[in-house]
Amino acid sequence: MHVDSLAGDAAYQRIACSGTGGRPYCRAMSEIEYRVAEGAYADAMVELEHLCFPNLGGDDLLTVEGILLQEAVFPEGAFIALDGDRVIGMGSGIFVDYEISQPQHHMADVVGHEGVGNHDPDGDWYYGIDIAVHPDYRGRGIASKLYQLRKQVVIDHNKRGIIAGGVIPGFVNHKHEMTAAEYVEEVAAGRLVDATLTAQIRNGFEVRGVIADYVQDPTSDNWASFIVWFNPWYRDDETDDDNRHPEEE
Ligand SMILES: CC(C)(COP(=O)(O)OP(=O)(O)OC[C@H]1O[C@@H](n2cnc3c(N)ncnc32)[C@H](O)[C@@H]1OP(=O)(O)O)[C@@H](O)C(=O)NCCC(=O)NCCS
Repeated sequence: MHVDSLAGDAAYQRIACSGTGGRPYCRAMSEIEYRVAEGAYADAMVELEHLCFPNLGGDDLLTVEGILLQEAVFPEGAFIALDGDRVIGMGSGIFVDYEISQPQHHMADVVGHEGVGNHDPDGDWYYGIDIAVHPDYRGRGIASKLYQLRKQVVIDHNKRGIIAGGVIPGFVNHKHEMTAAEYVEEVAAGRLVDATLTAQIRNGFEVRGVIADYVQDPTSDNWASFIVWFNPWYRDDETDDDNRHPEEE
């Protein structure tokens, strides 16, 4: 399924303005096509995964089986970015229930078999399994577009938001002078820049803590950030509560 038509959606446009620090998202990316991920691209997606996460252990990486399972159980939760026929970006996730006041968890416990086994259509949160952009294509807004497509799924299904454990590749340069918790606080405050966490913060995510032993990555001593994006348009039908964006009031 081709998904560029989402860009014309009114809610999408509102996200575009609020999710990237107020800057309208209108970069010229017409040469890149965004699609729901398809099994035909599974091998290329796994190849991109290994290229983009060179420090991670095998258990942390997407597999062909996981990609095919995602297509079977929750196809609209995964996207790819194509330059012609070449996969140059991707992002996937599932719906789960999660208590966000408790950052510490192991991804496998939350997402289940092959990264998607615990998909629950009634789950409150979209759990981001991974997002990656080919090094040659970074800094061109491709991850932002993939995040926007995820946010659209969250809005369409009235979910509370997106949660994820995020790698913190820049921690390796600071781990001898501060803890992982201090590092993510410094990045969140804008005093340090992290190639991954800064991009996530620029896309509207909040840092809600750190996760020990989240990844097999000796460079970061296995630490990850715990990040949350709150759906401003979420409506709790039971309590009639909502957390709409102030602009919507
Ligand atoms: C993190 C990643 C997905 C970002 O992809 P990208 O397409 O380059 O990101 P974008 O171009 O959409 O940039 C999004 C925002 O982050 C900022 N950003 C991106 N890379 C950055 C960097 N290295 N340093 C500082 N800011 C950065 C951009 O300036 C942009 O902010 P803006 O909207 O205010 O201008 C990409 O670097 C990547 O694949 N990294 C390796 C895999 C990874 O860490 N994935 C995350 C899993 S938790």
